[in-house]
Amino acid sequence: MAEPLFITDLMLAAIAAGVAVWLAIRAARSGADPRRLRWPLAVTAVVVAARIVVTALLSAGGWVLVDDRVTIGLPAAVVPLTVAAVAAVRGRAVTISGQVAAAGVLISAWLAWVPRDPSGAPAVAAVVAVALTLTAAAAALRRRGHGTGKRSPAVVGALLIVAAVGLLFLPGRPVDSADWGGGPRTTRVPYAADIAQLTGPRGRSADVRFTLTAARGTVRLASGRVVPALTFNGTSPGPTLRVRTGQVVEVVLVNTDVAEGVTIHWHGVDVPNAEDGVPGLTQDAVPPGGQHVYRFVPNRSGTFWYHSHRDSRDTVARGLFGALLVDAPEHDDGEFTLFTHAWPLGKDTVSALNDADAPTRRAVPDGRALRLRLINSSQDPQRIQVTGVQFQVAAIDGNAVHEPGVLPSGTVLLLAAGGRYDVALVMPATTVTVSLHSNEQAATAALVLSPTGLGEPAGDGHGPAFDPAAYGSPDATPPPAAADRRFDLRLDNGFKVSGAGLTFANTVNGRLAPAIPTLMVAVGDTVRMRVTNRGIIDHPMHLHGHRVRVLARNGRPVTGSPWWTDTLNVAPGEWYDITFRADNPGVWMDHCHNFKHAAEGMTWHLAYIGVTAPHDHSGEAAE
Ligand code: C2O
Ligand code: CU
Repeated sequence: MAEPLFITDLMLAAIAAGVAVWLAIRAARSGADPRRLRWPLAVTAVVVAARIVVTALLSAGGWVLVDDRVTIGLPAAVVPLTVAAVAAVRGRAVTISGQVAAAGVLISAWLAWVPRDPSGAPAVAAVVAVALTLTAAAAALRRRGHGTGKRSPAVVGALLIVAAVGLLFLPGRPVDSADWGGGPRTTRVPYAADIAQLTGPRGRSADVRFTLTAARGTVRLASGRVVPALTFNGTSPGPTLRVRTGQVVEVVLVNTDVAEGVTIHWHGVDVPNAEDGVPGLTQDAVPPGGQHVYRFVPNRSGTFWYHSHRDSRDTVARGLFGALLVDAPEHDDGEFTLFTHAWPLGKDTVSALNDADAPTRRAVPDGRALRLRLINSSQDPQRIQVTGVQFQVAAIDGNAVHEPGVLPSGTVLLLAAGGRYDVALVMPATTVTVSLHSNEQAATAALVLSPTGLGEPAGDGHGPAFDPAAYGSPDATPPPAAADRRFDLRLDNGFKVSGAGLTFANTVNGRLAPAIPTLMVAVGDTVRMRVTNRGIIDHPMHLHGHRVRVLARNGRPVTGSPWWTDTLNVAPGEWYDITFRADNPGVWMDHCHNFKHAAEGMTWHLAYIGVTAPHDHSGEAAE
């Protein structure tokens, strides 16, 4: 619902801008005759009214979806437009007020297309007021000096350019993360350390060792198509690493010939900071011929995954990822680890479950308990439908669900990019289909399970949607502690200056990396964050080093089992209140797990006061 409304508003703002230019020209040429302005004023008013209606509809989803529009964006257009309209109705001259109204509508459109940092709202309001006043003054001077001059819109145009430039670069001051949320500041003692000291256990010998060798290779898909890929130990997905909680795990990463360099990030495992695999922040990327040793002790059972964090938009898509299972049985006939992946092939991508881009079949005896470990290694949320059997979602992002309910056959699971669901079911005597629906169409890939190993895939992608916000039942987890710090992040779409020019991007409080401030916390803080998506694309939010608890979606508290996650899909029009405990000192990435968005600047950091980074973490390097 919100997504089409946001798109409609952007379109209406663009139309309003066009109409406003017409209004400006007519106003400058109208002389003292207000009748000549009736049509341009009426049409502009209709378009602006339509924007008001759309904003009202959006506001049903929550104030945070519309606050900027209601406080500055729309008043910038509505106030001067009303003044001009009243003047025209009363038969007064509208040479000046018509031009000011046109300027207001243009500024309003600009504010819709170029998102701002909410903390800079007073400054933006001041700039808008000054720009409108200057427009009025210029139009008045022009009228006095030239009577019914024909070239007057040039004045308006010049002023608008000045205002636009001001609005684009303002506020240009550095922002402290405290500006993004109020709340008391803690007085906790800073933790003094350098990232390089924050390693896993180095003194004792490892309990389990793996070597992961990254190299160029190929992946042959089930359809026979061959993808030029990057592999770990010759395969992609790479080998499944099975470890136990409490074990000292050692992984030697070797890079044979991946020119981009390689690191390994242990997605969802709260490793010590130095083991986190973020190039330019916790280590240097391993060049061809190089190696790096990781050590950590997993502290939670569940389904996790590993992937390179160097040029991830490209290298993960091409295959540098694999599963990391903590406390999974060693030999388990009932286990299926399925990555939903989008393989790059030429200019296209091919959706697949692991390497299966066409239906594949497996024989499973009737009555066997199955665990499907679904991991989304693609950049977009993926829809997975389980048909032919009732089932449970036993875990979300490696966190067991308390008393998971039984979901009907055909339920559709929306899996965040980077997220995991563990599905539990008991094999019936009939056919079960796990199908991947890249959109709401027929399956693009499916796993067909049956006692005979035959059977046709079912599942059309339409079915009841699984909702993790109301699933399972509450357990003994205490209610969330009072917040020591709060951060408020608004995700928007809009034009932004990046490098040389303007790009249409996904912004965080109107900013892109490296301009997004680092969120500062102290050890022991309880942190609350609100993440609001006012854009038109899903953003899977991933904070490294911590799992977060979801408290509410769109203001409605989570019922059922506590919802713990490390990768939270925030869809257009959604806003989440989340909390976590700052208990893992370091400097951590926080980013959108759509790696394309991350590479374009949807990347920032969470840093503990007192922790210093030996590597530069300008944000650019740490993508
Ligand atoms: Cu799975 Cu920073 O990523
Ligand atoms: Cu995103």
